[in-house]
Amino acid sequence: GKGGYDHYMLKEIYEQPTALRQTIRGRSNQLDGRAELEELPPGAFSDVESIHLVAMGTSYHAAMYAQTLLADRGITAQAFLSGEYGSNPPPTDDGTLVIAVSQSGETADTLSAIRSVQGTGARTLALTNVVGSTLTRECEDTVYIRAGPEIGVAATKSFSAQVATLILLSERLSQDIHGGTPAATGDLLESLAVLPDDVQRILDESTAKSVAQAYHDSESYFFIGRDIGHPVALEGALKFKEITYDHAEGFSAAELKHGPLALVTEQTPVFAIFTGRNDTKTLHNVKEVRARDAPVVAVAADGYHEVDDYADHVLRIPDTHHDVSGILANVQLQLVSYLAADELSRPIDKPRNLAKSVTVE
Ligand code: F6R
Repeated sequence: GKGGYDHYMLKEIYEQPTALRQTIRGRSNQLDGRAELEELPPGAFSDVESIHLVAMGTSYHAAMYAQTLLADRGITAQAFLSGEYGSNPPPTDDGTLVIAVSQSGETADTLSAIRSVQGTGARTLALTNVVGSTLTRECEDTVYIRAGPEIGVAATKSFSAQVATLILLSERLSQDIHGGTPAATGDLLESLAVLPDDVQRILDESTAKSVAQAYHDSESYFFIGRDIGHPVALEGALKFKEITYDHAEGFSAAELKHGPLALVTEQTPVFAIFTGRNDTKTLHNVKEVRARDAPVVAVAADGYHEVDDYADHVLRIPDTHHDVSGILANVQLQLVSYLAADELSRPIDKPRNLAKSVTVE
């Protein structure tokens, strides 16, 4: 059941500290600064040359996030919408690792993307929540995100657990491909270890309700971010449109001047995500939308005060490692979407036209 919550979505948002503890348990060895995934013996990926990530929807946003994590580690990686990949697969060979990211493990587009590389020599890895799902049978290897069952149609805790698992996997791939332990790993594993507590702090202290109350009458919302803040912006907008039925659009803050700025007025709240890298550039974009009188909601670290004078609201996230900060920013946006949809009395757990798993292409 819903365990006293009004909706499964809210229950699953609040389950995130527990889900994340399950995700990282036994997988991060802070003593020697190494990430360990029990399913993948050390060295399993030492001959990987490039990585394709295939996924849809929220899982695609986790895949985009991982593309940045891998690029930061000097690994060639690209995220693809699996529904596009299957119909026009880019070249793969025995140096390619194809990672399919899917909460359900049953998404038809993602299964067909994996089938499209069979016989090319590419290796395949499933990253999923559901034990024994079709995807785990189609891929050579599987890593579970261990988020626990997700009932609400809108994916919440699965995104957090996917990204946490992809952080560990990126570290593992980097250890295999480059050898040794990167100097930054210790900090990162420490930030991962406190991530469940950091999420709990957001759940306890979030001011998302005042944001939802201030703006739920608007008809259009924009979400902007850079780097890992870009997939988080896309995810914030996807969640918002799925459950409020209002128009919401996410894009890279870098894209703003190249078109979307034409739509920004005093009627379009803009959510700006700051993740501790390139924040000055994103602040510049905030000043641009501010000059068009758009309301600004910043999502920013406790210690980042440069934005305070330019934002109507600041949703705070604990200071942490850059790679982890996007998970925290996304939790604030989950709360905003949920609370805005609740103000509008939408059927949050079963949005119109949507199904939990999309088993046709
Ligand atoms: C978003 C959502 C969908 C799924 C997408 C992929 O809240 O639920 O966009 O993320 O259909 O599903 P999985 O991860 O099961 O492959």
